[in-house]
Amino acid sequence: MKAIDLRSDTVTLPTSEMREAMYRAELGDDVYGEDPTVNRLQEMAAERVGMEAALFVASGTMGNLVCLLTLCGRGDEVIMGHLAHSFLFEAGGSAALGGIHPHTVANQPDGTMRLEDIEAAIRPYNDHYPRSRLICLENTHNRCGGAVLTTQYTSAVCELAHAHGLSVHLDGARIFNAAIALGVDAKELVGDVDSVMFCLSKGLSCPVGSLVCGSTEFVRRARRNRKVLGGGMRQVGILAAAGIVALETMVDRLAEDHQNARLLAEGIAATPGLAIDLERVQTNMVIFGLADEVEMTPEGFVASLAQRGVKLNSIGGRRFRAVTHYGITTGDIEESIEALQRVMGERSAKAWGFGAVGNHGCQER
Ligand SMILES: Cc1ncc(COP(=O)(O)O)c(C=O)c1O
Repeated sequence: MKAIDLRSDTVTLPTSEMREAMYRAELGDDVYGEDPTVNRLQEMAAERVGMEAALFVASGTMGNLVCLLTLCGRGDEVIMGHLAHSFLFEAGGSAALGGIHPHTVANQPDGTMRLEDIEAAIRPYNDHYPRSRLICLENTHNRCGGAVLTTQYTSAVCELAHAHGLSVHLDGARIFNAAIALGVDAKELVGDVDSVMFCLSKGLSCPVGSLVCGSTEFVRRARRNRKVLGGGMRQVGILAAAGIVALETMVDRLAEDHQNARLLAEGIAATPGLAIDLERVQTNMVIFGLADEVEMTPEGFVASLAQRGVKLNSIGGRRFRAVTHYGITTGDIEESIEALQRVMGERSAKAWGFGAVGNHGCQER
């Protein structure tokens, strides 16, 4: 049975065009700045987000860390959402390696932090306080179900930050999903932020890689921090080649993933025993839960679906995340909905004492 893997868009495999480009890539030593394929990708990336320069890094985690190390010193404070990927899932790297102090502000369900909460978190100068130095945003917002931050919101945060002498970093791992969902150019969503990181290895299907973008001076310093982290790579054009194909061919198709996510979400909404807020489904992620009256455990639910060939992640508190991506077709989504309905049908059949669906031998009625 072919598995329909909805755990993450990081499970995507490179396209044949990418493999071909990787095979043929012109290479050089990128630590000397001499890999023509990396240089081309970096120029394309900077242009796509409206920044002066870009730097190829190994992962989104490395990209965020490079940006934080470049924008903050030891003992400086970074303000970020309590559900930010950087706060929850990057092994505390900025604190461990950079001595950067995280100050969390509540994320709203739409992925924003309230401007008044951000402002209240910015500290005045005082010998007792860490220095507030940076605000981090995330677009789309992973833990908030792929929620999209608007151009207006990002501009308002930048205005607030800059007025207080702080910088803004945008974790734009999925910035192109946000741009496609809003029908705007990624440049607009990046606006006045001081640095942005985006990933090639998620919905854009590359095997490896992210880009850090900012001013020429920012990238010069970021390059040094990448080196500190051991991220200076040599003939890395072999990976950058896939990135060029991704930027040229894989951005517009993200709309298909969003349509599939919507279809899945509607199927979930129509399945008794599952709970979902359809308004929260904006891009390629679908977060849903087991309704209160359902007695199944989250582990049991995930295992039953896996038995039917559908993989997704449990994200705690009886909630789950399904992510659509390249390689997942509309047919796969229809099959996934069927699998969900069967699992929930079995559950209600068991609750009524009928045994598994398909077993018509009534047991105890
Ligand atoms: C919003 C966000 N930022 C950063 C990352 C880190 O990317 P990577 O897995 O390439 O380190 C992820 C990964 O899922 C993410 O969702």
